[in-house]
Amino acid sequence: MEQKIVILDFGSQTTQLIARRIRELNTFCEILPYNKFPDNADGVIGVVLSGSPLSVYDADSFRIEFEPLVGRFPILGICYGAQLTAQHYGGTVEACDRREYGRANLSYRDGTDPLFKDISPESQVWMSHGDTITALPQGFRLSASTATVRYAAFRSEDKPIWGVQFHPEVFHSLEGSQLLRNFVVDICGSRQVWSPASFVEETVSELRETLGQDRVILGLSGGVDSTVAAVLLNKAIGQNLFCIFVDHGMLRKDEFSRVLADYKDLGLNVIGVDASAKFFSDLAGVEEPETKRKIIGRDFIEVFESEAQKISNAKWLAQGTIYPDRIESLNITGKVIKSHHNVGGLPERMNLRLCEPLKWLFKDEVRRVGRELKIPRHLISRHPFPGPGLAVRILGDITPEKVAMLQEADDIFIQGLRDWTDQDGISLYDKVWQAGAVLLPVNSVGVMGDERTYEKAVALRAVTSTDAMTADWAHLPYEFLADVSNKIINRVRGVNRVCYDISSKPPSTIEWE
Ligand code: XMP
Repeated sequence: MEQKIVILDFGSQTTQLIARRIRELNTFCEILPYNKFPDNADGVIGVVLSGSPLSVYDADSFRIEFEPLVGRFPILGICYGAQLTAQHYGGTVEACDRREYGRANLSYRDGTDPLFKDISPESQVWMSHGDTITALPQGFRLSASTATVRYAAFRSEDKPIWGVQFHPEVFHSLEGSQLLRNFVVDICGSRQVWSPASFVEETVSELRETLGQDRVILGLSGGVDSTVAAVLLNKAIGQNLFCIFVDHGMLRKDEFSRVLADYKDLGLNVIGVDASAKFFSDLAGVEEPETKRKIIGRDFIEVFESEAQKISNAKWLAQGTIYPDRIESLNITGKVIKSHHNVGGLPERMNLRLCEPLKWLFKDEVRRVGRELKIPRHLISRHPFPGPGLAVRILGDITPEKVAMLQEADDIFIQGLRDWTDQDGISLYDKVWQAGAVLLPVNSVGVMGDERTYEKAVALRAVTSTDAMTADWAHLPYEFLADVSNKIINRVRGVNRVCYDISSKPPSTIEWE
């Protein structure tokens, strides 16, 4: 039986980080809405209660039944989770005079609390709370304090319950990983066997069992997730996997032919469909961003469906959906707020069942699994690229000429990022999360030779991020930007100006449309 830690989510921004830290301990874990603890708790070895934007004394605060959990599994409450625990057992939680936010120095004096094994007596932690525990319940004892938070960490004297009002999952809690390790490994007894290799082995055997001799269709995009999903499925069911790779005409320069060749080298059974003429014709003259996206989404489904119909007896549609896609899609009350299916609606329409072999993985884990599957590095380390492709980077209407112009500018930028390495040999491409060029719908005056020009402007966008939810503009070296700008203006006909986008997300988004 696979071991797992359940993280009950009360809506904190850092719940995903708790999961990542636990996965780093080679331990499987699952985030569930606070009120969805499974009846069948097979394999559960411990429970973490997350933080929350709410106050425990609010009338509509999120609450759980402690009794079914206590004694069965060790429990670690973090921030709101700790306050909820203290309040449940008769302690007091009150609003702080001032919100506690930022770094704090934690003093640990007890010496016997297993949660603090190998943690320094003085250690930096990250605080973020507007309430604080002002009295511990009977039968609980203090483990550690900061200058302003007396009950920063505590535990029950007779039950396996711990609470910390700081955030061990956050990078600024310098010994937070050790604390989580103490909980997950020592207290809960994780065997630490979750790894990319064990994931591949287990998933391949599960897929074989579930899919048997069934035929499966999968939409490839050239991106990391669908590629890894395809190679995993190929390992499990071989030629019963049918991959479809649609060219909507707005991919990067030469991308369709290059990626198609890579897929064939990987032994995938892949059908490449050049549908660019249809997309260009349906998009002609359309300027409004959402309308463009809708047309592309609709056309994509039509093309995909018509290709898929040719594969007789297919029973499944496989997708490279990953864990953050699903967490983003579910809020803590379990309501779907955003659908991430690239081919949404198709499974029902074509009567296909959905197969999502990567649905438990974070992006970096997908990459590790990809490496385990020996997928070439250039496919695994690729930047994310939006489904509608360059269409959302050409502001205004789309023509094949504009696409060709942008492809050239983008290619110069991306190649430049790959070629520019630091003294350790790490390229700018690998340092940024994502980069690309944007074609602006403005003409401006320039001079080339002795000639006046009146041509298009290109904006370059490069961001750093860990999950695309927030992003900062990448501080690329001026010399690099100067070089790329020169090359674009000299080589791309029709462009006489290059700008660099220095907006962060939020309030801007990564893509311009
Ligand atoms: P934004 O522009 O919302 O983008 O900051 C966040 C991340 O999502 C990518 N993106 C998309 N990916 N289909 C996709 O598969 C889409 O329609 C789409 N729109 C944006 C974007 O490139 C960035 O990585």
